[in-house]
Amino acid sequence: MYKEDLLKGKTIIVTGGGTGLGRSMATRFSELGANIVIASRKLDVLQQAAKEMSEKTGGKILPLQLDVRKPELIESIINTTVEEFGSVDGLLNNAAGNFVSPTERLSYRAFDTVIDIVLRGTYYFTLALGKHWINKKQPGSILSIVTTYAYTGSGYVVPSAVGKAGIIGLTRSLAAEWGKYKIRLNAIAPGPFPTPGAWKRLFPDPKFADYMVNRIPLKRVGEHIELANLATYLMSEQSGYVTGDVVTIDGGEWLAGAGEFNFMESIKEDQWDEIQKRMKK
Ligand code: HXC
Ligand code: NAP
Repeated sequence: MYKEDLLKGKTIIVTGGGTGLGRSMATRFSELGANIVIASRKLDVLQQAAKEMSEKTGGKILPLQLDVRKPELIESIINTTVEEFGSVDGLLNNAAGNFVSPTERLSYRAFDTVIDIVLRGTYYFTLALGKHWINKKQPGSILSIVTTYAYTGSGYVVPSAVGKAGIIGLTRSLAAEWGKYKIRLNAIAPGPFPTPGAWKRLFPDPKFADYMVNRIPLKRVGEHIELANLATYLMSEQSGYVTGDVVTIDGGEWLAGAGEFNFMESIKEDQWDEIQKRMKK
């Protein structure tokens, strides 16, 4: 889909890049020539991932330990990246925390924990890197991974919904404010893309995942490469005039859930024959 050197010479930091979707997107950026920093809490997981990823792509992948809830660590990640690769050109805010629970069962600390990783972590990194770029008079691209329930809200994942909605506010606001510095900010709202991290926390019973697939118009979950290619486009200069946008990649799921009459999918052809005969009369 892309030229092999699309991201050559670029350096991209991916938070939570050692597992799941972050790893898939980081691997794709690396295949297309970017230097990659993957940063999250579990250094052993990152180191193993970096080794496997660079064996696959031949690119440079630097694993660095980071808790996105600590801004002073974020600044040191930016400094280390510049020392290692000369500059930072892109940030993928991908790290997240989430679990399903009736909201009334959550402690204040449980709510804070998810918000702190999802929203605070994203604005800490965005702010630190934005200041760095503005100071250096350098352009940059920031991409954040949200969810479709950032638009709609969703019961049972309320702290995540609140945090992800906040990221959309951040993305749109700063796209307007920082355009003059040639800093672009966009977001992607994925529907379900199976990963061990999400599946073990969000689908306590595998039947729940089947239910989700049935209501997706395209009748399947997403493939990591589909998300990785979209992320590549939005991260690269090919999307140089796109900023402040949120692109949905969900097989039509959220609109199917929202449209008033979409429940009629369950009506069979012979039932339609009967209904239409009756209604035309
Ligand atoms: C209720 C819970 C809970 C649960 C933790 N807590 N798990 N409450 N139900 N299942 C509460 C704890 O009791 C504690 O509150 C507080 O949350 C903090 O818990 P810790 O374990 O100390 O937090 P921490 O070690 O920082 O771990 C953060 C985490 C964990 C979010 C709880 O799950 C994690 O590390 N997640 C990272 C990866 C992840 O979540 N990936 C999924 C992303 S999927 P008290 O009051 O008891 O001290 C996603 C996709 C959505 O976002 C869309 C899919 C279609
Ligand atoms: P995942 O594998 O669990 O990814 C979450 C990542 O965040 C992990 O690598 C984790 O690494 C990192 N992380 C968590 N807390 C952190 C912290 N405090 N500091 C730094 N890093 C931290 O799950 P995933 O499914 O790939 O999710 C990736 C992103 O996609 C998330 O933003 C998620 O909300 C979004 N998303 C996923 C889906 C889906 O269907 N999978 C759908 C919509 C949106 P450590 O544990 O090493 O810190």
